[in-house]
Amino acid sequence: MTAYLIKSVSVVGAAPTDLLIRDGVVAETGAGLTAPDATVLDGTGLVALPGLVDLHTHLREPGREDAETVESGSRAAALGGYTAVCAMANTSPVADTAGVVEQVWRLGREAGLVDVQPIGAVTVGLAGGQLAELGAMADSAARVRIFSDDGHCVADPKLMRRALEYVKAFDGVIAQHAEEPRLTEGAQMHEGEVSTRLGLTGWPAVAEEAIIARDVLLAEHVGSRLHVCHVSTAGSVEVLRHAKARGVKVTAEVTPHHLLLTDAKAETYDPVYKVNPPLRTATDVAALRAALAEGVIDIIATDHAPHAVEDKECEWAYARPGMLGLETALSIALDVLGPQWDLIAERMSRAPARIAGLDGHGADAAPGVPANLTLVDPAARRTIEPAELASRSRNTPYARMTLPGRIVATFLRGEPTVLDGKATK
Ligand code: DOR
Repeated sequence: MTAYLIKSVSVVGAAPTDLLIRDGVVAETGAGLTAPDATVLDGTGLVALPGLVDLHTHLREPGREDAETVESGSRAAALGGYTAVCAMANTSPVADTAGVVEQVWRLGREAGLVDVQPIGAVTVGLAGGQLAELGAMADSAARVRIFSDDGHCVADPKLMRRALEYVKAFDGVIAQHAEEPRLTEGAQMHEGEVSTRLGLTGWPAVAEEAIIARDVLLAEHVGSRLHVCHVSTAGSVEVLRHAKARGVKVTAEVTPHHLLLTDAKAETYDPVYKVNPPLRTATDVAALRAALAEGVIDIIATDHAPHAVEDKECEWAYARPGMLGLETALSIALDVLGPQWDLIAERMSRAPARIAGLDGHGADAAPGVPANLTLVDPAARRTIEPAELASRSRNTPYARMTLPGRIVATFLRGEPTVLDGKATK
């Protein structure tokens, strides 16, 4: 195993130091380190963050390998600075059995670019009718701890209660896609002034807020852990603030796109901007940013949702919802938050690692800590060219935008998965 000596790098924004990486861990930190056997990397001007952890990634395998595979998505993740991703269950077949979650987990190990932690479905086939084999998935080699029907809401309150009760036994988490389906039938975009003008059926904020309100009460009643996926409205923030003040065990995520883009993008009729939940208003964006800074929203999660060209480059009404996210998330975070390194490390690495229970991830570089880290050049700016992305899909909403920050290197247990901005395999 090669040793690496990173000279003069800032660990999460602190004064520059040297980092020696050996045998998969950070062996030493301090000024003036030497190690004759190590490959030396110049870290001047770079920031070392704990490897990013994504709690919400769609890898599409099995079933839609034309849009993404575990390997291509893992490469996109590593290039984005990630060392672990949680793979959503809406594959084909659905990840609702021990067999499918083990397959995804094994494919992740084979790719070896990030740790791929499968998420299991809550209900059989994501159909919302019957609980999936949660215990078998938890006991499998994949050791599933997060369950989600993401893409669909667990709308039946009794089933949601049962799921929360079931996972309590092993400290599992139910990650809810909060969307009251009766309120979003036929919805194409956020319900508001823009949808009225465009004549598109609206997805009202209350459809999200009503489910979050119900679920935090259920989680409190059961005493179980709830995680809320892709929070998108100012009203949801208020519900979460209230629940957290009551001591409910609830955590929440926001996506980079909900922190940056608004429903005004729908005026282009370009389906690259179609996503679920939809892009909201500038008021919502401001509330989400404030909630992220305050901690009412715990983490940034990408909801990386690759789609094949024929599923995206068509009429708005027929396009699938979703956007790429892994390769641009850190840049959007830098754009939105500025160089608040401790906040970025907390929201994109430490907190998601804690929620997912991913030991060895989410720890700042210090002697003895597993060397899962990423080196960022905050001074660099890059223009996003869809054709240059490692994802198999091209549906980035940031095409040809110039964004701050560049991932220079990513290390997974001491082995570089990215060096000089390029994947090592
Ligand atoms: O926009 C979305 N795309 N939202 C979801 O909840 C699912 C995802 C997907 O799987 O494409």
